[in-house]
Amino acid sequence: MPDILVADDGPVRTIRMNRPDKKNALTLAMYDAMAEAIEGAGSTSGVRCILIAGAPGAFCAGNDIGDFVKMAQGGALGAPILRFLYALARSETPLMAAVSGPAVGVGATMLLHCDHVVAASDAKLSTPFVALGLVPEAASSLIAPRLMGHARAFSLLVMGQPLSADEANAAGIVNSVVPPEELEAAARAAAEKIAALPPEGVRVARRLMRGAPDEIVARIDEEAEAFKTRLTSPDAQAAFMAFLSRKR
Ligand code: COA
Repeated sequence: MPDILVADDGPVRTIRMNRPDKKNALTLAMYDAMAEAIEGAGSTSGVRCILIAGAPGAFCAGNDIGDFVKMAQGGALGAPILRFLYALARSETPLMAAVSGPAVGVGATMLLHCDHVVAASDAKLSTPFVALGLVPEAASSLIAPRLMGHARAFSLLVMGQPLSADEANAAGIVNSVVPPEELEAAARAAAEKIAALPPEGVRVARRLMRGAPDEIVARIDEEAEAFKTRLTSPDAQAAFMAFLSRKR
């Protein structure tokens, strides 16, 4: 089975991360497949909402740490990562997510680009960028402070303090929290509700609310430059090795 499953069911396109044995840690191929599915939704008539989902108890463990090591050796951030982040920022199709279990790193920051997020009560958002020797990405340094205020964004993005589903709800990242067994149905119902609205009204309202994507894209680029430098730092190298050689 592919690591990313894309299925159109009526007007809802579901993009499902499907690498549960690795808690849906994202490889470059997975970023590419997700970017393609988001980009393609705009030109596929009838798709009116994109729902990003993971597995029960495993939304997404962030970037594959083995890939981080390879990128540090190669001196470049993988192009598919930027492609995916640009696709999120530029999507004209409403974006939704259904989150269960850990949402780490980009697994959490991708939620900041969503228009509607349903979380299971077992969801846990964390962005341990700085502890890993890295810096925030996906324009989270711009969007998170606007959304929840500087102090709460600092706690999340710099101090690495996780958010429970209820805390993410209170912070304005998550719309509703449901029991894990109700997540898929609740997310699907919300996606269908969005998809049933007049699409042109949704498109224009979204654009007005989000503004032009240029500022977000510029911040993605600015963060990526800093991220690339930090990837090769001794702090990051030590953190990656500690994760890859941990004993459990
Ligand atoms: N990159 C590569 N592999 C990862 C991964 C990642 N980001 N996250 C999890 N995995 C792998 C683990 O190495 C393990 O593989 P193994 O079974 O071959 O040993 C498998 O996924 C399951 O992970 P495990 O840690 O046993 O599950 P858990 O339920 O105890 O914890 C997490 C889940 C997500 C909290 C934990 O795996 C974690 O902290 N991952 C790293 C997250 C991270 O720092 N991402 C980068 C953010 S910038």
